[in-house]
Amino acid sequence: MLKDHKGAAGFLAVLIVTSSLLEVFVPFLTQRLIDLVVMTLRTRRVLTFQTILQFGLFIFVSVAIARILRGVYNYHSFRLMGQIEDEIKTNAFANFLNLDMTWHSRLNSGQVVGTLDRGGTAIFVVLYEILGQSLIPPFVIFANIFVSLLFTNRWIALVIVLPVPLYLLMVGRMVNRLHNYEHETNEKFEAVSKESYDVSSNIATVKKFCQENREAAIQKRLVDRARSSQLRAEWLWAIVENMQSWVATLGRVTVIVFGGYLVLQGRCTVGEYVLFLSFQEMLLQPMTQLSVVVPKLRRNLARTEGLFEVYDAKPIVVDAPDAATLAPLCQSIEFRNLSFKYEASDRWILKNVSFFVPAGATVALIGRSGTGKTTLMNLLLRVYDPQEGSVLIDGVDIKTVTQESLRRQIAVVPQEVDLFSRSIAENVAYGRPNASREEIETAVTAALAHDFIARSDHGYDTVVGERGLRLSGGERQRVGIARAILRNPPLLILDEATSHLDTESERIIQDAAEHLMRDRTCFIIAHRLSTIRDADLVVVFGENGAEDIGNHEELLNRSHTYRKLYDLPDERQLASQSSDWPGHRAELLR
Ligand SMILES: Nc1ncnc2c1ncn2[C@@H]1O[C@H](COP(=O)(O)OP(=O)(O)O)[C@@H](O)[C@H]1O
Ligand SMILES: [Mg+2]
Repeated sequence: MLKDHKGAAGFLAVLIVTSSLLEVFVPFLTQRLIDLVVMTLRTRRVLTFQTILQFGLFIFVSVAIARILRGVYNYHSFRLMGQIEDEIKTNAFANFLNLDMTWHSRLNSGQVVGTLDRGGTAIFVVLYEILGQSLIPPFVIFANIFVSLLFTNRWIALVIVLPVPLYLLMVGRMVNRLHNYEHETNEKFEAVSKESYDVSSNIATVKKFCQENREAAIQKRLVDRARSSQLRAEWLWAIVENMQSWVATLGRVTVIVFGGYLVLQGRCTVGEYVLFLSFQEMLLQPMTQLSVVVPKLRRNLARTEGLFEVYDAKPIVVDAPDAATLAPLCQSIEFRNLSFKYEASDRWILKNVSFFVPAGATVALIGRSGTGKTTLMNLLLRVYDPQEGSVLIDGVDIKTVTQESLRRQIAVVPQEVDLFSRSIAENVAYGRPNASREEIETAVTAALAHDFIARSDHGYDTVVGERGLRLSGGERQRVGIARAILRNPPLLILDEATSHLDTESERIIQDAAEHLMRDRTCFIIAHRLSTIRDADLVVVFGENGAEDIGNHEELLNRSHTYRKLYDLPDERQLASQSSDWPGHRAELLR
């Protein structure tokens, strides 16, 4: 990152070195002046007032220029470090978006946003406040003073520098323990906010079950725990501060005594004596800040770890280097010997699943909840890669094509449709951002969502979640269907897309969905028997993933799981008698 900012960094270095040279130059002027005054007193040689005025002017100009340079340095380092922070943060966020679902299901998105924010701020603090303000400028001044002292008085150079290693040694050890305490404290405070976030987002449940007092008590206990660990750290702080003021005072006294001795011996002038004392002052102040700066540095470096983890994370599902573009689906989809388990568990969700779907067919996936229907669809979308086997579209393994060209062909209407807090039009057009208002309205009308959108205050421009546009589950699903209609893909997945609707609306939506399903290859995960009977193929999911495939009649004959799912009697006649099977059985399956 810094490589891209070499020029700016060099400019900052020149500024800081020049301004510190000037700062170190000022005590030398004072020294010269004092020596001149002393000499005048001794030898009665006349030091004119004019000369003193000149010195005053010199000092003023030097300090003024040093300040101006420092100001320019501060401004530009603020700008540069802010820029670096933004670059790292936005890159990390872009990388976060690019990660695949294996990552996203591992990460909690709220936590990630927090991590990026905290990490970004920490980067700024490390670069600007700690390096740019507390470490580099004092270090440059220190180097300047040390070198100038080597030329004036080696002994004093030694005496002035002596407390530094002593100080580092002592504080360094304490700082380690301090760091551990503070780390612990941080973790405990984070636990507090995580807990309160969790509880407040479940507030409705808390109230329904009258758990307010218990939750409040849990909060209090967590806060108390965090506080007491913070107090321990605070106590250690008090000790560290004490120790550092001893070292500082010891250093100061040594210079006073030793410098005074040198003056008495005639080995240095009064002016030099004052010079040493002012150098000592210039050094002590930043040095005593080290005990604050070092832990701050470690704390903030630790905070950036999370950010860099996201920054460096590599997606697991990636396009092959020579990935081709998938041509529009025209012949078939084939699942071949597919086996899959989630990385966190040992249980195979799908075991050796194979079936073939001709293009244009409607495939119903049925089975109890948790049997892997959604998982199979995610493999088709290449949200995950299977451990064994492959998915082929028109005979092409989807692993060999770009994810973009694969997903462009598929629209999914999930059970829970997620909406952005953007206008309803933008939400509908999410899969095709440049759709015209007319196209959007046509899609919405086809999805039977026009009524409740037209009813809201600003129609299609109403922001979701605001001004009367709080959508129920069923309304969200209709927006989801409109999204899919607008996207107009060759392949459609309806994953329990009508589960939030009552029977009445479901039938209406079914019409909308049928319109959507025409001339397309569709996978429908649904529970209504009428939907399933209309499907060309039905895949039955049991304990080991997909266990049978066929049409309604065939499955009725041979699949025990299928009959059980619908509580169908074994006799075939009964099945063909009634034209509309009781859809409410569906409840049993969810
Ligand atoms: N991200 C995940 N990580 C681990 N296990 C998961 C994940 N998603 C789903 N599962 C598990 O995989 C199984 C199949 O889930 P899913 O495909 O969603 O079932 P269905 O859609 O048939 O209800 C379930 O037991 C579920 O707990
Ligand atoms: Mg599911």
